[in-house]
Amino acid sequence: MSRFWSPVVQSLTPYVAGEQPVIDGLVKLNTNENPYGPSPRALAAISEAVNDTLRLYPEPTGLKLREAIAASHDLDPGEVFVGNGSDEVLAHTFQALLKHELPLLFPDITYSFYPTYCGLYGIDFREVLLDEKMQVRIEDYRQPCGAIILPNPNAPTGSALPLAAIEALLQEHPDQVVVIDEAYVDFGGESAIPLVQKYPNLLVVQTFSKSRGLAGLRVGFAVGQRPLIDALERVKDSFNSYPLDRLTQAGAVAAWEDQDWFRKHCDLIVASRERLIAALRELGFEVLPSSANFVFAEHGERGAVELAAELRKRAILVRHFRGERTENFLRITIGTDAECNKLLDALKQILA
Ligand SMILES: Cc1ncc(COP(=O)(O)O)c(C=O)c1O
Repeated sequence: MSRFWSPVVQSLTPYVAGEQPVIDGLVKLNTNENPYGPSPRALAAISEAVNDTLRLYPEPTGLKLREAIAASHDLDPGEVFVGNGSDEVLAHTFQALLKHELPLLFPDITYSFYPTYCGLYGIDFREVLLDEKMQVRIEDYRQPCGAIILPNPNAPTGSALPLAAIEALLQEHPDQVVVIDEAYVDFGGESAIPLVQKYPNLLVVQTFSKSRGLAGLRVGFAVGQRPLIDALERVKDSFNSYPLDRLTQAGAVAAWEDQDWFRKHCDLIVASRERLIAALRELGFEVLPSSANFVFAEHGERGAVELAAELRKRAILVRHFRGERTENFLRITIGTDAECNKLLDALKQILA
């Protein structure tokens, strides 16, 4: 606290990101990064962009990237918005589209940045409980609200809703914006982007941080009809006109265009996930079904705090979320098979 703070700063509960320690030989399974990294074509494009044009501001709207994303989905570039990570895209979305008289709805167990944005922008919200199997139940969203945001697949549970459920939600709330946060969709979910032309109330948000291995570059985007995208542009241009620098724009376009690299490494991660789930179950874990690049697992006999601490002693990081319903769970990012094997060996030792 300081007497120099604006009043809103005193009331904030900032998001706590997963740690990024520098430890030799660390097996880092705590922040859902991609173990394979970006396409070599993205790295080459970034290197090539390191030249004297860096003295000039970048194109302010990320036009080439918006064109590439739009072309893949048969959309107009005006229906795509890009930002500095999907966190920034989400922040603008909360401010531009989700503040209404009635509360914003989102699951009680979900991306913990959502309540933080609500605090920052003074948005009233109501958490809708996941069911006893930790799944989102669309019927529970049949209540008066100002807007809805859902990650699909959800985080940190990893569970995905079918597209038909998202469509039902859109039809049940024609006068509210419905945001689908698809940070993990490429690992087995069904994207709602094909519904964008049909539903003026739909905004879909995706990221380059997970399936494209570019968490360090900070690129996210939103897809929706023009009035929604215009709202995001208005907030962006009242905040920071140049969210994507020149290197980022060059790297992101090349990463987007390298579909082979993208698909191949998503498939590798999905195969490793299924192997890890089976092995964790053999060790006595209950693992929720996952359509993401992480699993949410609970051990019948050993507490998650203790397990996370024991793993950390062995230079293996996983994520634990405090909270009544998440207390017993570990969220484990899918690494390479070698990393998953190190995790399993360590767990065998700890549980013996
Ligand atoms: C559900 C969800 N949405 C959005 C993000 C933000 O990702 P980024 O800002 O790296 O694009 C994350 C990051 O972990 C996430 O889990």
